[in-house]
Amino acid sequence: PKIYAITPTYARPAQKAELTRLSHLFMLVPNLHWIIVEDANTTSSLVRSLLDRSGLVDRSTQLNIKTPPEFKLQGKDPNWIKPRGVEQRNLALSWLRAHVDVERHAIVFFMDDDNSYAVELFAEMSKIKPGRVGIWPVGLVGGLMVERPLLNADNTQVVGFNAAWRPERPFPIDMAAFAISMDLFISFPQAIFSYEVQRGYQESEILRHLTTRDKLQPLANNCRDVLVWHTRTEKTKLNAEEALQRKGQRSDDGIEV
Ligand code: UGA
Ligand code: MN
Repeated sequence: PKIYAITPTYARPAQKAELTRLSHLFMLVPNLHWIIVEDANTTSSLVRSLLDRSGLVDRSTQLNIKTPPEFKLQGKDPNWIKPRGVEQRNLALSWLRAHVDVERHAIVFFMDDDNSYAVELFAEMSKIKPGRVGIWPVGLVGGLMVERPLLNADNTQVVGFNAAWRPERPFPIDMAAFAISMDLFISFPQAIFSYEVQRGYQESEILRHLTTRDKLQPLANNCRDVLVWHTRTEKTKLNAEEALQRKGQRSDDGIEV
């Protein structure tokens, strides 16, 4: 099946580094289509030329939609007070609902631009059956080395989760822990992301429309292999750059970093 990877992204100093990592992963995964949604009023030449250079133009869709200011994190806000990527993922879902051939089996995966993904994860995802949501462990998240689904004795069903953070959530898992058969988004048109949910409930919000725990399809060696890590990039310190700019100079004059 074709895999549609949906990635919200926003301009900041490390953006090109993050997207370069992802684009190199996609060069190794032929059946993937990348829907990259910029949190901005226009698409950028940085993203366009990155797609161009990695030969992904024919296997990608570049969209943009800006997060409304009332939902955008402000400078000193801790990163968890507002959900991120809501507007962008919803735009990608409406693009998919409008453009995808509903007769063809396809998979939808929500990808942060800063996580670390193994190529093997995409082979696992390709095993997702029509009408199902595939699930696997995620490394370095929720205060644990690994968050993972717990399976029944014959490894066919998810019976629980090992989450330590808010384990009472209907689906106490990270966005990187699952991918969805496209037909479910057609069957359940009301499935979208929302700002009106508590912190950490974005995953439960989308999944509650689409599936139930007992229908999840365990992957990645009966949920024992870690093929994705919830890495987060340190905020870039630019004190010397700011000092330069106060003198009307910059280190990246005419250079895209
Ligand atoms: C965790 C999950 O991994 C995210 O998938 C989930 O959206 C987020 O929590 C949440 O609760 O909203 P975390 O690593 O803390 O993610 O979030 P980020 O990686 O900072 O943001 C998730 C995605 O949204 C990234 O691809 C990022 O580039 C994008 N984003 C972030 C924007 O498009 N605009 C922003 O202002 C901030
Ligand atoms: Mn992230």
